[in-house]
Amino acid sequence: MIRDLIMSNRSCRRFYEEVAIEKETLRELVDLARLSASGTNLQPLKYILSCDPQKNALIFPQLGWAGYAKDRPGPSEGEKPAAYIVVLQDMEIRKSSTVDHGIAAQSILLGAREKGLGGCIIASIQKDELRKALDISDRYEILIVLALGKPKEKVVIEPVGPDGDIKPWRDSEGAHHVPKRSLDELIIG
Ligand SMILES: Cc1cc2nc3c(=O)[nH]c(=O)nc-3n(C[C@H](O)[C@H](O)[C@H](O)COP(=O)(O)O)c2cc1C
Repeated sequence: MIRDLIMSNRSCRRFYEEVAIEKETLRELVDLARLSASGTNLQPLKYILSCDPQKNALIFPQLGWAGYAKDRPGPSEGEKPAAYIVVLQDMEIRKSSTVDHGIAAQSILLGAREKGLGGCIIASIQKDELRKALDISDRYEILIVLALGKPKEKVVIEPVGPDGDIKPWRDSEGAHHVPKRSLDELIIG
């Protein structure tokens, strides 16, 4: 079950934008993050939820999509995420970020997948612009943005080829291919 969920939890960058996500759904997803592990149990992460078109429009332009795929700068009109979760570090609780936001992101994305949604972790963010757009105080460091929606793309996992190239690529039918290294390459001892 967990393997199936993880296999289907591919980074998705094209969505049925017209399929809305309710604020309550985003709250349920953040609740999964809330229940996840946190270094020293400090729980320094805070969240901004966005699921209305006006707020979404403030967030979208500040995000960098799929650094590898220069030919496709990001989702087209009508294929943008229906919602976002901005993950912040509350500096009054902890100054430096640990791995909490990675764990939180995975909890949220697996929960989203279970609900038939998909998403993408975005770390490539124009942080100053996003801070201004959402009026985020200096108390919070912007860590990542999770883009969410109903997936509109096929993503295929495949082994890394003999040339060792790990760059994801898109085929002529638009399917997104993600090379993954073999288990034997990863386990070194
Ligand atoms: C820490 C982190 C940062 C990422 N930042 C971005 C990003 O800024 N833009 C983007 O399109 N994808 C981003 N991704 C998604 C990765 O590109 C994606 O995980 C990778 O291509 C493998 O695909 P998969 O998630 O389907 O296994 C990020 C993923 C992680 C874990």
